[in-house]
Amino acid sequence: MNLAQPDRQALHAFARAMPKAELHIHIEGSLEPELIFALAQRNGVALPYPDVEALRAAYAFTNLQSFLDIYYAGASVLLHEQDFFDMAWAYFLRAKADNVVHAELFFDPQTHTDRGVPFAAVIDGLHRACVQAHDQLGIRAELILCFLRHLSEEAAFATLEQARPHRDKFIGVGLDSSEVGHPPEKFARVFAAARALGLHAVAHAGEEGPPQYIRDALDLLHVQRIDHGVQALNDPELVARLARERIPLTVCPLSNVKLCVFKDLAQHNLRELLRQGLVATVNSDDPAYFGGYINQNFVETLDALGLDAAELVTLARNSFEASFASDAVKAGYRARLEACCREHGIAA
Ligand code: HPA
Ligand code: ZN
Repeated sequence: MNLAQPDRQALHAFARAMPKAELHIHIEGSLEPELIFALAQRNGVALPYPDVEALRAAYAFTNLQSFLDIYYAGASVLLHEQDFFDMAWAYFLRAKADNVVHAELFFDPQTHTDRGVPFAAVIDGLHRACVQAHDQLGIRAELILCFLRHLSEEAAFATLEQARPHRDKFIGVGLDSSEVGHPPEKFARVFAAARALGLHAVAHAGEEGPPQYIRDALDLLHVQRIDHGVQALNDPELVARLARERIPLTVCPLSNVKLCVFKDLAQHNLRELLRQGLVATVNSDDPAYFGGYINQNFVETLDALGLDAAELVTLARNSFEASFASDAVKAGYRARLEACCREHGIAA
């Protein structure tokens, strides 16, 4: 192997082997069609699709909303604590295979509580899977509660209230669902209340929405990371600020293509984000719907954009920097990444 310029196969192997953090994964978006059908049968839920193939064939999206409609329908099979555990455990097994060492999982309680599922069933099942992922797979896993931005501020406050007795089971709040028309300012007060509880704050912004939503997420919600944020490049002043303040972006390349944010992966701006000095990371978003888990995102993106080994290392390093792990834990992750580089003959 040429150590200075690893060939494509060696680069793939290295990308797959790198220890990495996943910071943008909606756990409901990891629900594979096979598990949707298994849970539907177990729970006696009728689905509007005859079989797995028909459901998968419906995964042809034109924008975020066309995806969300199917995504919320898929989540309707989740009723009991065990269902939430099974979903998260299936994700952790996939994450382990991709050398994810740290995962911060989004979950959407309102999608479930609005159907009558108790909040405790949702969070207890997910939390039990996180504990088991740590004990059995060595993955540090945390939960981030997302408010659905198409619902009201009042509903978000009610959700935060339901979550309060479970404060020890999640580390932060986020904001997801339909972006355009639901700006960050709608949730400024509930984010302030969440931050007062010592919770971390992140928000989806600049996926389909304008750069102003990214600014508002920073200035009104005081978020520590931006989820997606790919529209930032349309605003050079904002890019300079994100770089200066080292605000991470949790980028999801396959998602962006599936939801028609970019025409294809070759058009994706991930490499440009790195070149402009942003703390960009690679994530899977909703892997069961968008064509792959985190390593698939890495491999397809590196091929399409011609990423080199140094850029891959930067992406993995960024994922640790952007995580909510302690400094000591982050130092341990960086050491593991350096060991992986040495094993693969790649300069750290
Ligand atoms: N954007 C907004 N909301 C979401 C997404 C997304 O990519 N995935 C699941 N909920
Ligand atoms: Zn997302």
